[in-house]
Amino acid sequence: GIIGYVGQREALPIIEEGLKRLQYRGYDSVGVVVMGKKDVHVVKTKGGLENWQKKLGQEKMEGTTALGHNRWATHGAPSESNAHPQWDCQKEIFVVHNGIIENYAVLKEKLIKKGHKFISETDTEVIAHLIEEFFKQKKVSLEEAVQQALKLLEGTYGLAVIAKSDPQKIVVARNSSPVLIGLGEGENFVASDASAIIAHTKKVIYLEDGEIAVLTPKDSQIFDRNNHLLTKATQFIDWDIEQAERGGYPHFMLKEIFEQPQTLANSFQGRLILEDGSAKLGGLEDAADRLGQIKKLIIIACGTSYFAGLVGKYMIEEEASLSVEVVYGSEFRYHPPIMDRQTAVLAISQSGETADTLAGLREAKRQGGLTLGIINVVGSTIAREVDAGLYNHIGPEIGVASTKAFTSQLVILSLLALFLGRQRGLSLLAGQELAREIQKLPLLAEDILKEAAVIKKIAENHQQAENALYLGRKFNYPIALEGALKLKEISYLHAEGYPAGEMKHGPIALIDKNFPTVAICLKDSVYPKMLSNLEEIKSRSGPIIALASQGDEEIKRLAEEVIYLPRTLEMLSPILTVIPLQLLAYYLGVARGNDVDKPRNLAKSVVVE
Ligand code: M6R
Repeated sequence: GIIGYVGQREALPIIEEGLKRLQYRGYDSVGVVVMGKKDVHVVKTKGGLENWQKKLGQEKMEGTTALGHNRWATHGAPSESNAHPQWDCQKEIFVVHNGIIENYAVLKEKLIKKGHKFISETDTEVIAHLIEEFFKQKKVSLEEAVQQALKLLEGTYGLAVIAKSDPQKIVVARNSSPVLIGLGEGENFVASDASAIIAHTKKVIYLEDGEIAVLTPKDSQIFDRNNHLLTKATQFIDWDIEQAERGGYPHFMLKEIFEQPQTLANSFQGRLILEDGSAKLGGLEDAADRLGQIKKLIIIACGTSYFAGLVGKYMIEEEASLSVEVVYGSEFRYHPPIMDRQTAVLAISQSGETADTLAGLREAKRQGGLTLGIINVVGSTIAREVDAGLYNHIGPEIGVASTKAFTSQLVILSLLALFLGRQRGLSLLAGQELAREIQKLPLLAEDILKEAAVIKKIAENHQQAENALYLGRKFNYPIALEGALKLKEISYLHAEGYPAGEMKHGPIALIDKNFPTVAICLKDSVYPKMLSNLEEIKSRSGPIIALASQGDEEIKRLAEEVIYLPRTLEMLSPILTVIPLQLLAYYLGVARGNDVDKPRNLAKSVVVE
């Protein structure tokens, strides 16, 4: 995460506040550089912001221009020397950078031959030395030197640069890694994410690839790659600081789990037409005719958003009889599925910045497909690049583990299934029923959250477990995958998600009295089959935690622990079944003493391939 300030105020408190809000992006080391009147102050440390603050101690870092960075290591281990800012031989140029410079090794070798001295293992340090080459020797402005240096870089970057000899200026550049400018009165900001600056301004400009911004206290100029001055529209952030705070909850993850009744409602508000049994999807209006013609939909996503895509496949295929393929962003790019003019590609991403999803999307565009998006972060790169799309409208998701964004994605996919279904012959009655049931979801989610204490107890009972198996079928098979992912991320337990029918083809070998299974076993079309799978587990002494439909007494014969869920349509049940699994992962993570909002090795927004 990047935060930078240039203005009249003391910069340090602004940078610290920004870093605090950016912690969820990456946090294995932190660094800050402040331009003082006479000196440049730099403090860097391994670990998170608290470590950094300890190291700063009573030291004063006074000055009105500064950059801060939370690092998530790619090149070089987390360490003080690898933390950003990185600088040149003269300690004149300071760079903070998100992304990866792919040709850094070649550049570094050339620079070393020219006499440059490197002190880190990072790719970023190369940028500082390259800028030095142009800045010192050719007597050009800082922005010109940056521009020259960028021409030699291959890879991705969102970066900010300051120089000792031009202390009231920040130069910012972007290539495939998000960066935005915040506009203030007599001050300007740069950040990789609006949450870092929202306390100070809601007026922002998102940089596009190839653009360079030059910020001074009074001015912000943006140039394209050919050095033409651009006039870019200012955008307004539509959420506020409270939404980026914990509001009394011990963790963002818990707050966001408990927000779900509201965020589910936000996701369908104004989008359901009950009497027509249909959905009004304003963001897709321009693409509606083309959508009516498509023969295939390909969903691209990563992580939790990918699992939302899998549920979407079941929903859309059932309701609209439209063939849907779901592909990981990282696979799409190198093996794009066969597509033609009658194929649409839907990118699902909470952040709208995931590098793999973005790369897949760009490949789809290159092939001429209609591109759509389901995105949470307004103004993010994917949101800007798709032909048409839908926002989640759920405010910022800060917890690294995606929770409220996932259920919102599922609601929007159910709206899409309804919309496409009605275009393709889904009956009015079926459409009306689906619309009515979608509307009931917030209340049902509230009922589930009332069971939090039961789920906490179950989590504590399994605190010592080493492994867990998650099983589900049909609509709830992807929820088994998501439940297992949540557990891995937050509790660091090994967990596997499986379609329950596949268990007998291998994973059953793992089952014994120490290997718990979490089974999604609702009274739906696959209930009898799920029961048979649970019998197989019980006969091998495997402990079972079941998610069951209210009123199901039979399940108690097989499962030691049962979490009951209110009934809804089978197609909508994943939106509810995932909630207890989020809570289970959360409480297990807390019971095991983990930092659930900042799980080790993870970053909220994965902007590198
Ligand atoms: O922002 P995105 O939805 O594109 O992010 C995709 C994944 O990186 C994300 O879902 C990740 O798997 C989360 N840590 C899941 O909790």
